[in-house]
Amino acid sequence: NKVLVLNGPNLNLLGTREPEIYGTTTLTQVEQRLHQCAEELGLQLECRQSNAEHQLIDDIHAAQQIGVDYIVINPGAFAHTSIALRDALAGVAIPFIEVHLSNIHAREPFRQHSYLADIAVGVICGLGVQGYELALHAAARQLTGQ
Ligand code: DQA
Repeated sequence: NKVLVLNGPNLNLLGTREPEIYGTTTLTQVEQRLHQCAEELGLQLECRQSNAEHQLIDDIHAAQQIGVDYIVINPGAFAHTSIALRDALAGVAIPFIEVHLSNIHAREPFRQHSYLADIAVGVICGLGVQGYELALHAAARQLTGQ
């Protein structure tokens, strides 16, 4: 089974970006850890990050072409703005889990709505970088019907 981990805008700055909110782990470290997990779980893993909405949409379309079975996505601020990202995920009909490092419900009001959440299988927020790992484990279990 193949899983795509997709990170949106500003997540390339993880580690140095507002560390009091997002922690000090870099995206490279997160992705390394996820590759270890994927190996243990017997999953093929692709990781992508982009600051551009159109690139994320293209990556979602490409996911369908290369047979991705599950997407773990941290859409960053596009969660709160992008109907296009929602439509892309709905369009490819690949099940996905939405991840946010911070607890978006405990922050500014404009972060409390996500255009993706109601079509996600599940949403994990507030658990920092661990959220990605939990999402990957959940995806693996769903894919193997456990
Ligand atoms: C975020 C939360 C978003 O509101 C914010 O715009 C981000 C990061 C998170 O992981 O907590 O860029 O998605």
